[in-house]
Amino acid sequence: MSYTSNIKRISRGVLFVIEGIDGSGKTTQAKRLAASLASDGYDVLSLREPTDGKWGKEIRDAAHANKSRRDPEQEYRLFLMDRRQNVEENIAPGLSAGRIVILDRYYFSTMAYQGARGIDPKRIRIENEAFAPVPDRVFYISITVAEGLQRISRGRGGFTSFEQEEYLNRVREIFDEHLTCLPFVVSVDGMCRPDEIFDEIKRTAAEFLDTLAS
Ligand code: TYD
Repeated sequence: MSYTSNIKRISRGVLFVIEGIDGSGKTTQAKRLAASLASDGYDVLSLREPTDGKWGKEIRDAAHANKSRRDPEQEYRLFLMDRRQNVEENIAPGLSAGRIVILDRYYFSTMAYQGARGIDPKRIRIENEAFAPVPDRVFYISITVAEGLQRISRGRGGFTSFEQEEYLNRVREIFDEHLTCLPFVVSVDGMCRPDEIFDEIKRTAAEFLDTLAS
């Protein structure tokens, strides 16, 4: 059997995004979705934000250095620069080439996380959609903050603080208020077993891709 016969074609590029608070399991699900669609024969490009590019590295280094945080506007600008670069160099070319781009976090994280630091989430959405393609589906993995923090402290051996809990509560509130009403957002119950979560994401993704089969 020739491999080329397995390649699945779609009529245009597709953008899938996975979102959720820290500890929601989104990275695991993003990787599983990418692997599963690739083994189905689709041409998949996996990306994450913050990226591994210049600005993304600066964001991650600052987060790990335990320094006091930048002011919210400065921090927001850094995420915007990282995203602009990601759109120009990776997302837009991937979509133009007809690939399935799977993105672990996108501008909905900016709405929620920088929104939780006082920047208007609506403004963030408008400023991002001025240059960043609107996704075809966003899978929002919803878990409680208590569960997310427990998983982080179990898995990564770090400690969690009251401050962090308060912050994530605000992040989650914004996700719930600003995301769940959007027509392309699919809410997935992150308290279910990982296999069940994956089945739901895969089923929804496959249904969408069937509409673009060519
Ligand atoms: P995360 O995906 O959790 O990275 P890792 O798997 O390496 O821990 O993202 C790192 C942090 O960046 C996370 O706490 C959320 C935050 N973040 C923002 O504050 N704004 C954004 O726009 C994005 C994309 C992420």
